Amino acid sequence: MIAIDGPAGAGKSTCARLLAARLGYRFLDTGALYRAVTCRALWNGLDPSDEEAMAALAERVEITLVAGPPMRVVLDGEDVTAPIRGPAVSNAVSTVAALPRVRTAMVRQQRAFAAAALRDGTGVVAEGRDIGTVVFPDADVKFFLDADPRVRAERRAKERGDGDVASVQREIEARDKMDTERDVAPLRAADDAVRIDSTGKSEADVLAELERAVAARAKRRGGN
Ligand code: CDP
Repeated sequence: MIAIDGPAGAGKSTCARLLAARLGYRFLDTGALYRAVTCRALWNGLDPSDEEAMAALAERVEITLVAGPPMRVVLDGEDVTAPIRGPAVSNAVSTVAALPRVRTAMVRQQRAFAAAALRDGTGVVAEGRDIGTVVFPDADVKFFLDADPRVRAERRAKERGDGDVASVQREIEARDKMDTERDVAPLRAADDAVRIDSTGKSEADVLAELERAVAARAKRRGGN
């Protein structure tokens, strides 16, 4: 089990996906789960801060991550891969993710995903905000991936084909603030996480750093 945490736009998803492919592991995008529940809530006209309603929804929905590439997210049989990345979901997801009962339901799903992979003899690269601290505190290797906020906003704007970097930066900074300040499972690096700052580094550079750390850990475990 490899855990990758960090703020929005630090390169977690891309690097986690590439690392999983290199290692032959499954990729668990936990943000996609929070996004899918948020998407369903908005479509159903629910208030994203209504814990009772949101918890009932989180416990009821069936979310499947279909391995790619590209990975697809299926919510109650419907492909929501594109809509969960849209601005409406991005603006509401941190409100939903701050609700303790929603987190309980999502963490249960994440652990079930990992258990299924491990039963098949396959490892998992999981990425999110609380993976190394709460969801998989016994992960073999933990990373905390960060980058300068402006650089993170530029990357995210480019991915979305959105020229308004300043507004993207406002969105991700608002989300980072909520994710860091919430009471339950806030965004933070685990004490034993390897910290990587991806500012000025290419995806290939970061992937190489991740692979080196994974190999070093495996060597230490192997005792040679
Ligand atoms: O891709 P990006 O980094 O923008 O975000 P994401 O990984 O898709 O996560 C979206 C939101 O879900 C985050 O801003 C958090 O509010 C929440 N989240 C969380 O609380 N815990 C996780 N393990 C993963 C995501």
